[in-house]
Amino acid sequence: MHSSITVSAPGKLILLGEHAVVYGKPCLVTAVNQRMTAKVSLIPEQILKLEAADVQVHAYQKPLTELGGGTIPKGARFVEMAVKNFAEKHALKQGVSIDMSSAFKATFGFGSSSAATVCIVKALFELLHIKQAQKDIFDLAYKTVLDVQGKGSGFDIAAAVYGGTLLFMNGGAVIVPCKVSSVPLVIGYSGIKADTVTLIDQVKVKAEKYPAVIAGIYDQMGALVEHAKTALEEEDWETLGELMNTNQGLLECLGVSISKLSEMIWAARGAGAFGAKLSGAGGGDCMIALASKDRHKIVSSAIENVEGEVIEVETGVEGVRVEK
Ligand code: MEV
Repeated sequence: MHSSITVSAPGKLILLGEHAVVYGKPCLVTAVNQRMTAKVSLIPEQILKLEAADVQVHAYQKPLTELGGGTIPKGARFVEMAVKNFAEKHALKQGVSIDMSSAFKATFGFGSSSAATVCIVKALFELLHIKQAQKDIFDLAYKTVLDVQGKGSGFDIAAAVYGGTLLFMNGGAVIVPCKVSSVPLVIGYSGIKADTVTLIDQVKVKAEKYPAVIAGIYDQMGALVEHAKTALEEEDWETLGELMNTNQGLLECLGVSISKLSEMIWAARGAGAFGAKLSGAGGGDCMIALASKDRHKIVSSAIENVEGEVIEVETGVEGVRVEK
């Protein structure tokens, strides 16, 4: 019986369908090989101990009875709430010591908070020898995200739990793996940190002003995701690229693109990408370009020429797992 375990979970990139997915439409998401890792140990003291240098959390401690209360440092919120939710559901009798580390910068928008949350839930299930389905991990982790930030579709939690490339819909009521091994993407980071909740709220204001218009955009986004799933599974990159460009146009209509992202997107298209769009909430973070492997170098250079930072990632990687 072990009282200590190391678990890792992947980050994610949303391929198509962001924002509309918050309102029940489908999106396509892929898990990427930049992983969050947590070493989790059960300890006799009835406290949570957390070390997470990547998000400036050092020697943080809190009694289990006080979890979720008082001031919580930003970098500890998801982890603390995950332990609290787990303890409430599964009668956690011991304290927990956690050491988190990430292979990617929290600023990329790869879903570091969601991956961290999934690591904690998985580790506690394992340490307590509680049999769990992937959906059990998803449900507890998604509840945690909603408790902390109040909104979010849960697609990033699904990517961290299930891995691969998924069609995700309706808060996790639909999670369907796509039959594709990897997607030839070039990723460009804008250098600007975006705040997902702020952008969701911004779009909500627009939706209240023009309800029929925005509802129509969400419908179109949902429809193009369905087409894109087929294109993806047939490795019909031309069609997928065209749909990515269309999705970008709709995201522009929602007002979430910014000139830096647009510049990188147009640079990638100019260099021969099949298509390019922002990935995530918009307002910064990353863009993705779909390009044949022999064009990756030239597309990457085009993105760098407009001051984007190219990040190498593998797509469709394994979901949460226990490390040796
Ligand atoms: C953010 O990466 C994507 C959004 O659709 C939010 C969400 O789905 O939780 C804007």
